Order: sequence, then structure tokens, then C-alpha cells
Amino acid sequence: MAHIIGGVGTTHVPSIGGAIAKGKQTDEYWRPFFDMFPPVRGWLGRAKPDIAVVIYNDHGLNFFLDKMPTFAVGAAAEYRTADEFDIVTCQEMLVDHAFVVQMQLLYPDVDPTGAGAGWPVRVVPISINTVQHPIPSAARCYKFGKAIGRAIRSYQQDANVLMVGTGGLSHQLEGKRAGFINKDFDRLCLDRLVDDPAALTGYSSEELVELAGSQGVELLNWLVMRGALGEHVSPVSRSYHVPISNTASAVLALAAA
Ligand code: DHB
Ligand code: FE
Repeated sequence: MAHIIGGVGTTHVPSIGGAIAKGKQTDEYWRPFFDMFPPVRGWLGRAKPDIAVVIYNDHGLNFFLDKMPTFAVGAAAEYRTADEFDIVTCQEMLVDHAFVVQMQLLYPDVDPTGAGAGWPVRVVPISINTVQHPIPSAARCYKFGKAIGRAIRSYQQDANVLMVGTGGLSHQLEGKRAGFINKDFDRLCLDRLVDDPAALTGYSSEELVELAGSQGVELLNWLVMRGALGEHVSPVSRSYHVPISNTASAVLALAAA
């Protein structure tokens, strides 16, 4: 039986990939960010997941305004039409920094390029539309995460599954509020992701943009991850550092009960 060992939420700013490529992990600017990961990696070394389900948002690389599925699940074994449904399965899917950067951060020793060779986990990318409105509501994302959790738990083969939710926390890259960060809201989100994720489902998409910034809605990816973990979790590691690039960066690792 597949078993969910827990989940990790991490920020996915593209310049993290640049810092890794240039070996800047211990530079003054980057050290506080990269220092957030050793406890998470220690936990992964002990918990040994063999599949990672990575919830992220494509930024226009693979899905653009002409085709923007609300939810898209990477699937390679077969092709089915998904007519009239907004959960789309993709035989081919390009993945951007929102998928790759956290894999580099979680498994830096095996393949620092992020190309995937040698990762100890098989990966299932699940892309959430956080780009083109109407984006899925927080309530819907949490429910989608719960459905993913049920699907994983009903999988007959033995597997230890790690959920990863990427992006966030608060940030806004464009317009008058470019550079917007909301530490109070980020802290509240981290608290509630641990002890009461349903409390975050009351926010409308407009309220999330207001509170977290137009790209801060990437919090939805974390909420899907959290939904899959079940009611009770124990925090393994929690850290927050502002800013990395234009983003309030955070890492939250949660062991499932
Ligand atoms: C930044 C943050 C993001 O989430 C992203 O996708 C691209 C850039 C940033 O802070 O620069
Ligand atoms: Fe992003």
C-alpha cells in the first residue's frame, strides 16, 4: 500500500537555480536561505520517500493563455482524453523552475543540475493554475489535495510518497505593488498549514491576491500538498527568510501522522 510520509513546502524563485549553478550557497545573501534545508534533508534521509508528488504552477513555459488547465497531472503510461474535465493528464509536459528548483534543494548531492539523474525518488508533477484567473479557489485546492491523498492511499503497490508544494509565500512581481511582502500573513499561513489548514480555505482568490500579492497565490500549491497529508501532522522543520529575490521564502516540512 502506498503511504504518505509527509510533505514539504518550499519557495521556488528561479534565481535559486542560478545560485546553485554558481555555487553561491554560502554567500552572505544566500546562506540564510540554503541553511533552511539541512534539517529537511536529514528527515528525508531517514524517511526515505521513493515517490515525490510535486504540486507547482507552470509560469507560461508549458501552459499559456491559450491552454491553461486548472489542474494538470503529469502521467506517462497511457493517454486518455480529458474532454470537459479540468483535471488534465499530460503525456508530455515541460517543467519550469517551480518544479525543478525544489528537487535541486532537496537532493543537491545527487544531481545539482536538476536534470533528474540519480534522484532517489520517482516524480509526479501536478501543475495548478495560479496564473490565469479564474484560478481555483483555496477551498477547491485543499479538497483537490485531499482527493490526491485518497488516491495515493488506495494505490496497491508499496510506496512511500512525499508531497511537495512549491512557490509562495507572499510576493508580487509586477505593477504598483511590485515587491509587496506580508510577513504577518505569511506567518499566519505557516501556523495554519500546520494546525488548521481548513482555516485558509475561507479566503477568496481576490483576498489572497490582496493579502499575499499576485504571485503569493502560489500558496495554493502548498494547500494542495497539505490537503493530501490528512488531518494531523507533526512539524519537522519550519523556517522563513525575507527576501530571496522578490519573495518571502519559507520552508515547511510536515510528517504525516
Ligand atoms: C520570483 C518568484 C517566483 O515565484 C517566480 O516564479 C519567479 C520569480 C522572484 O521573487 O523573483
Ligand atoms: Fe513563481
